[in-house]
Amino acid sequence: MTEKEIRDLRQCLGKFATGVAVVTCHGTGGPCGITANSLSSVSLEPPLLLWNIAKVSNSLQAYLDAEYFAINILSAEQQALSHHFAQSDHTLFHNIDFELNANDVPLLPGTVACFECRTQQIHDCGDHYIIVGAVQSFRSDDGDPLLFFGGKYVAIAKPAE
Ligand SMILES: Cc1cc2nc3c(=O)[nH]c(=O)nc-3n(C[C@H](O)[C@H](O)[C@H](O)COP(=O)(O)O)c2cc1C
Repeated sequence: MTEKEIRDLRQCLGKFATGVAVVTCHGTGGPCGITANSLSSVSLEPPLLLWNIAKVSNSLQAYLDAEYFAINILSAEQQALSHHFAQSDHTLFHNIDFELNANDVPLLPGTVACFECRTQQIHDCGDHYIIVGAVQSFRSDDGDPLLFFGGKYVAIAKPAE
């Protein structure tokens, strides 16, 4: 594909509105986090979900090696966190509030939901890897989610009362 075709495809895919998550794991260098919107539910019984990580990601190896990871679904108030973990120095958890679960995976407070997973399968797919996780525990909290649409953060549209 030409660069224009790739740009057009990316723009077209952006029509699929998503939430935004920070996927965390425990890497050899410590806590690791990356902003991702490629989350998809796969199966309820057994409970499985997937997300994709770019092969060029600096933290790729940490996620390929990780036995456990967590999907932290960001709230509408957490746009700055999304921006932070979309940068290449995101492995730095300095000044970031988190707690470690029993598997040393960082969990972010203030999210609208969190899925704690065990890595089940990794598929090599184009310029990404698909990582499938078995959901070991999950929790859901009140609040609006952060949304991503057309390459921008957007707010949930509420019907007038
Ligand atoms: C809203 C949003 C969604 C993203 N979704 C993904 C994703 O699903 N998979 C991925 O590999 N990168 C995704 N990225 C890009 C990564 O967050 C970003 O490239 C990465 O953190 C850059 O650092 P790295 O190269 O060290 O990984 C997304 C970025 C944003 C802002």
